[in-house]
Amino acid sequence: MTRDISLDYTNVMANAVGDDNGISDEHLKALKQRAGKIHTDLAKKRKSGALPFFELPYKIAEAKKLKNAGRALSKKFSTMVVLGIGGSALGTTALLTALCHSAHNSLTSKKRTGMRVFIEDNIDPDHFAELLSTLKLKETVFNVISKSGSTAETMAQFMIVSDLLKRKLGKEWRKHIILTTDAKAGALRTIADENKIKSFIVPDGVGGRFTVFTPVSLLPAAAAGIDIVKLLKGAMRMDERTSQKPLLQNPAYLFASINYLLDTAKAKRMTVMMPYSNRLKDMADWFRQMWAESLGKRCDIDGNQIYAGQTPIKALGATDQHSQIQLYVEGPFDKVLCFLEVSKHDNEVLIPEGFEKLPGVSYLGGHSMNELFAVEKKGTEYALTQNRRPNMTINFPEVSAHTVGQLLYMLEVATAFAGGLYRVDPFDQPGVEFGKEYAYAMLGRAGFEEKRARFLAEEKGKRRVL
Ligand code: PA5
Repeated sequence: MTRDISLDYTNVMANAVGDDNGISDEHLKALKQRAGKIHTDLAKKRKSGALPFFELPYKIAEAKKLKNAGRALSKKFSTMVVLGIGGSALGTTALLTALCHSAHNSLTSKKRTGMRVFIEDNIDPDHFAELLSTLKLKETVFNVISKSGSTAETMAQFMIVSDLLKRKLGKEWRKHIILTTDAKAGALRTIADENKIKSFIVPDGVGGRFTVFTPVSLLPAAAAGIDIVKLLKGAMRMDERTSQKPLLQNPAYLFASINYLLDTAKAKRMTVMMPYSNRLKDMADWFRQMWAESLGKRCDIDGNQIYAGQTPIKALGATDQHSQIQLYVEGPFDKVLCFLEVSKHDNEVLIPEGFEKLPGVSYLGGHSMNELFAVEKKGTEYALTQNRRPNMTINFPEVSAHTVGQLLYMLEVATAFAGGLYRVDPFDQPGVEFGKEYAYAMLGRAGFEEKRARFLAEEKGKRRVL
């Protein structure tokens, strides 16, 4: 059995869903020249070291060190709490959901591999206070992750936690904190150096959402018992495939091109990722940030206003068959779906025979939940295709560190390539700054006084509330 993931794109083609909603071989052929140019450009940048995310799968020696660091932490502590947001949290969440037992944090230490890992990626006061109230501080290490070292949400969490640790554990407080941040810049780096707090480095030139193969995610994953070397080897395997120049031989380029063509030529302004696997459900969340933050841009690389970007949506099969599928099958023709499908789940769960007098129920007996899951996915795919809704499937032979590494790397390369197709910079996020500045100004950060006055003046008397 091949251990490679595969992309089935039969149902995005016009011969499956019609000319108005599908793409043709001609569409793909017409992209050939541009795709070749984008490939050459990316390869050049990669070679020059300008896109270091490409090389992360090959840092096996570093991963082994992180594995040991994770093991050492799990000997000292029962619990790690990750404090971080966006790219500093989503990759880790995706890894933990995919590769740990679904009740990992509730298992007893004997049944659990690795330590409990909680990801706190929000500043909801109730959620945060309630988590803190359940922790045994002596058994807990807080891993504060911020590449910039200044993100308000993460810094607020850090200030609360460090104060709590100082009050409860005195001088020992710093032993309960790990900082993962830039090697040189930012407030967190200063704090790490001044307080001699153990720290890990977010490599230079790797933006937040591309950090899943760095200590940002690898350390907490290793601490939770995930085989991070196998994960990187999966990414390496995908690199062999995504280094191919021909569009039709490169799953990342093909995935990006399908979305791009459907968006720009067929008005599929939304792309839905729908795993039929609870293990993969947070991959859709990670992808949502990747696609949205990287490609949703006002200006192209020449500064022209283009307002680019396809809206990524996450769904979960079969759960959302009873929620969103009605819209996807019969609503506006504005979406493309990408299923994540698993051939072999870790467990086979049989449905027992029973309720023979009720044929509407008894037909299920003797089948397995696995069969039902697979057939429901096929049914959704069939319904969409019959209703001329383009859809594709990424198949996982199994969910393992190796296949998950493949998917993550494939989608990173797809995003970089899609940046070329849309002619935007997929590695910046200028739009995120607007909201941040408002928060800085309103909370009195130095240097934002003028902005604060302007924001207040602009708001005055304009609210409409019933
Ligand atoms: O992808 C990105 O760059 C962002 O989502 C960041 O990861 C997020 O804003 C958090 O930034 P930082 O790691 O600097 O705290």
